[in-house]
Amino acid sequence: MNSKPDNLFEMVRRALAAQAELGMGEIVVGANGLSGPREAAQLIASSHRVISVAAAVEAEGKQADIFQSSVDMSTEAQFESLAAHHEAICNCQLCPLGATRNKFVYGVGNPNAQIMFIGEAPGADEDRLGEPFVGRAGQLLDKILAAMKLSRNDVYIANILKCRPPGNRDPEPAEMEKCFPYLREQVRLIQPKIICALGRIAAQALLRTTATLGALRGGWHEYQGIPLIVTYHPAALLRFEKYKKDTWEDMKKLMARYESMK
Ligand code: URA
Repeated sequence: MNSKPDNLFEMVRRALAAQAELGMGEIVVGANGLSGPREAAQLIASSHRVISVAAAVEAEGKQADIFQSSVDMSTEAQFESLAAHHEAICNCQLCPLGATRNKFVYGVGNPNAQIMFIGEAPGADEDRLGEPFVGRAGQLLDKILAAMKLSRNDVYIANILKCRPPGNRDPEPAEMEKCFPYLREQVRLIQPKIICALGRIAAQALLRTTATLGALRGGWHEYQGIPLIVTYHPAALLRFEKYKKDTWEDMKKLMARYESMK
């Protein structure tokens, strides 16, 4: 049986932990009296006013691994268009990458795309140009799209992180937790019919899992009710030629499902 909490902080912590267990994803504070979603988003982007259950529980010393819980932090703001969303969040300083980025890399493509590709984070080229997948991996992604008879204007391409991790290191869980609501709002606005996660990190973040890429590839998953397929990151294909055949199988599967939805 639970012992009686002896202070208010502990009571709040336990209540939050219980809510997290029940699947309640977020606690949002500080947006009272704001005139609209844009103002709320700007406030959120410029300060640390959104507190997730995961962060609150973790603050008390418990490890709340975001990929092993159902906790999903969210901003309260919803937007009418990708352009309005982009404008509201492009000065984000929610994590330290805001201070080291050159350009905020929001996303590129057709706002009404039916297929959305999601990668990990901008690299040096993307940070310089402000567009996802414009370096060598991006050129390979363009070739994959061309083989599917698609171009960047037919699909939408975004990343889990909107800012480059210095030295191209892996994104930190805390950075992904802060940035993820931006991607979720992009998905809500675009409403793609199919999502393709490029590589392990994108797949794990979208599916809230620690499963390996090998375990995630090959079958269908769902993100917010949208069918999701996982394939290799194009950067991995540049290094390991042998993954190309499997990637092509994944893309054929994606296109077959897409055609069946028409
Ligand atoms: N790798 C990614 O995951 N995203 C980019 O935008 C570029 C390289």
